[in-house]
Amino acid sequence: MHVISDILSLREQRRRWQLDGKLIAFVPTMGNLHQGHLNLVREAKKKADIVVVSIFINPLQFGPDEDLDAYPRTMHEDKAALQELGVDLLFTPSADDIYSRGLEQQTFVEVPGLSYMICGASRPGHFRGVATIVCKLFNMVQPNLAFFGEKDFQQLQVIKAMVTDLSMNLKVFGVPTVREADGLAMSSRNNYLTESNRLVAPSLYKNLIKVSDHIELGRRDFSRIIAECKAELNEVGFKVDYIEIRSAETLLQPGHEDTHIVILAAAFLGKTRLIDNVQIKLKN
Ligand code: PAF
Repeated sequence: MHVISDILSLREQRRRWQLDGKLIAFVPTMGNLHQGHLNLVREAKKKADIVVVSIFINPLQFGPDEDLDAYPRTMHEDKAALQELGVDLLFTPSADDIYSRGLEQQTFVEVPGLSYMICGASRPGHFRGVATIVCKLFNMVQPNLAFFGEKDFQQLQVIKAMVTDLSMNLKVFGVPTVREADGLAMSSRNNYLTESNRLVAPSLYKNLIKVSDHIELGRRDFSRIIAECKAELNEVGFKVDYIEIRSAETLLQPGHEDTHIVILAAAFLGKTRLIDNVQIKLKN
């Protein structure tokens, strides 16, 4: 596996692959890799000749109250895992290279609408930071295919919208969430959970499944279902940020015609904010 930190060397390697007619897949990450990330790499390997992974902890997507310095850094273990999977190139740029004119003057990419709702309402500026870094990384790596986890469902929709709106020449794939045996969605944030919080954490997914069962059985009193779900989660120790039932295509409130629904949730356990979602395809 090549490990490259500077953009010029990356572009040079990219050009050689292009001359050889290789199809290039890209998996952007912030490191601290778990099976969810490694599964993105496995999917990427199935579809492309070359797999590029990036590890860059993006300061632009952290809010003022979110601790960028505390974000887990496990470069040694991450490299070993990627090497073992047969990744072709690991790109590890520095913040000084990525934001060479400084964060204050950085040009932004903003996907309006989608970026302001749900998680975006709780984390102002977060999706602007995500769209900006993903756009920059796409410009550097110039992949044919890019892979993102469905666990960050709204992020995936923001990126797909950006690719469409800016006529980017690549295809974006969403990959299903990987879960622990007890249902907890894999996430770097799970590292922050205390032992007692870890025991409670799977209830988030269990309650989303309950919501999806109610909808599949025909209930359409969404506000009531959401209120019941919030009450149950708060009861076991969560502090719910939001539970939303939305159209999976638009992330807007679903109408009668919407058959692809997503239930999205964010909830705190102690200081750790967990997110998860469940999709339902309704038969019409
Ligand atoms: O999902 C993530 O890890 C990050 O938001 C991403 C897409 C790598 C951008 O920094």
